[in-house]
Amino acid sequence: LNYPTARFLVSAPTLALCPPDSGAEVAFAGRSNAGKSSAINALTQQKALARTSKTPGRTQLINFFSLAGDENLRLVDLPGYGYAKVPEQVKREWQRHLADYLQRRQSLRGLVLVMDVRHPLTEFDETLLGFADQKELPVRILLTKADKLKRGPASTSLAQVRSRLREWEDLVSVQLFSSLKREGVVEARAQLDAWLLA
Ligand code: GTP
Ligand code: MG
Repeated sequence: LNYPTARFLVSAPTLALCPPDSGAEVAFAGRSNAGKSSAINALTQQKALARTSKTPGRTQLINFFSLAGDENLRLVDLPGYGYAKVPEQVKREWQRHLADYLQRRQSLRGLVLVMDVRHPLTEFDETLLGFADQKELPVRILLTKADKLKRGPASTSLAQVRSRLREWEDLVSVQLFSSLKREGVVEARAQLDAWLLA
């Protein structure tokens, strides 16, 4: 797919307000500030397609982007989870919408789970892997901000995450990524192609 042709489609606060559930889409989930929006920008070679921020909790809506001018091919930027400063009530709301979206969205073909390579597999990451497992939804984990670590420690983190997920290896794959250095873009795009064009 020609990723640089991606365009903003719509923002939705709830599942009910998402665009029609037809065609195919891939969603990006992960902790607040992990680098989901930056990963979408790196993959589409656009500076500010998805809004990024130093302040965690920037993305509070489900944001949809169309690919190749086709509204039936979409990337989805999900709100981050685990941001401490958000009131408990709001957090619960988000988690409900997230669970709703992951469990019910028919056009969802795969989940990109974005984790900071320095802090992988948080409790909520594991919860999300559990959801994916239940739905038999394939997952690609991007261990992002790989530019923050030297080669050795980055490879160690990759190996550790792989070994902890061995029981799920049919459904889950893992790679290093850096939006800053555009590392891992080719591999991640190949996975998106495989899901969206199947
Ligand atoms: P929320 O929308 O709040 O859930 O966050 P997000 O996961 O979309 O994170 P976002 O892409 O906004 O990035 C958060 C911060 O991390 C920003 O300051 C980015 O510039 C920085 N960042 C993201 N990816 C990378 C990366 O690969 N390398 C480095 N060094 N910084 C990154
Ligand atoms: Mg974001």
